Amino acid sequence: MNKHFGELHVLRDINLDVARGEVVVVIGPSGSGKSTLCRAINRLETIDDGQIMIDGEVLPAEGKALAKLRADVGMVFQSFNLFAHKSILENVTLGPIKVKGMKGGEAKELAMSLLKRVGVDNQAQKLPAQLSGGQQQRVAIARALAMKPKVMLFDEPTSALDPEMINEVLDSMVALAKEGMTMIVVTHEMGFARKAADRVVFMADGQIMEEATPESFFTNPQSDRAKDFLGKILSH
Ligand SMILES: Nc1ncnc2c1ncn2[C@@H]1O[C@H](COP(=O)(O)OP(=O)(O)O)[C@@H](O)[C@H]1O
Ligand SMILES: [Mg+2]
Repeated sequence: MNKHFGELHVLRDINLDVARGEVVVVIGPSGSGKSTLCRAINRLETIDDGQIMIDGEVLPAEGKALAKLRADVGMVFQSFNLFAHKSILENVTLGPIKVKGMKGGEAKELAMSLLKRVGVDNQAQKLPAQLSGGQQQRVAIARALAMKPKVMLFDEPTSALDPEMINEVLDSMVALAKEGMTMIVVTHEMGFARKAADRVVFMADGQIMEEATPESFFTNPQSDRAKDFLGKILSH
């Protein structure tokens, strides 16, 4: 696919295939188009040309069919985006009830099991602001999973967190990866990439510059852009 923001060619001939159960980490300098790519996959951004297919079905550009297929794509953002005035439990049950027409009792049961899976079931009655950032982000993961997505997109899910909370979120993501979820994860957390990723995709200037296994990418990057980028993040 291609996309412009005015003069800026923000996504250039992006061609990315992700197999079922595969975990792809997208890495690259700020401004390289990683967030735009995630948003385009979910049709939160229009694209100029190309198409997005999920499980063999072309994602329509708009309308009811889009809403249905979009439910197949779970998204977790840097900012947790929970509904501030709803309890943790309600945050997770809302989608299944409103979008999927699930009964209240069933939605609650599902939500509690997902909250348990990410270790925050004991927070179910609280409001988001009463939780730490790490807990809120785990709720956001549970909320996305409640829609039973076929693929999960994560856009820098730990970059707004205090350091001591990063691992609790990454651990939930590693567990999800091990369970076989298909995942596209924008992150600079190399520990996560090494533990969970099947493939690292390096983006720069709106292009996919390199694709490799984590081991090969981190130890033997090919392009000057990737070498330069890794030099910068490794020197921290
Ligand atoms: N809504 C927008 N309108 C215009 N330019 C945008 C918009 N969103 C992002 N951009 C620009 O597109 C480029 C890629 O942004 P982004 O996808 O957020 O990169 P990344 O997530 O890799 O940091 C940047 O130059 C950014 O300024
Ligand atoms: Mg971004």
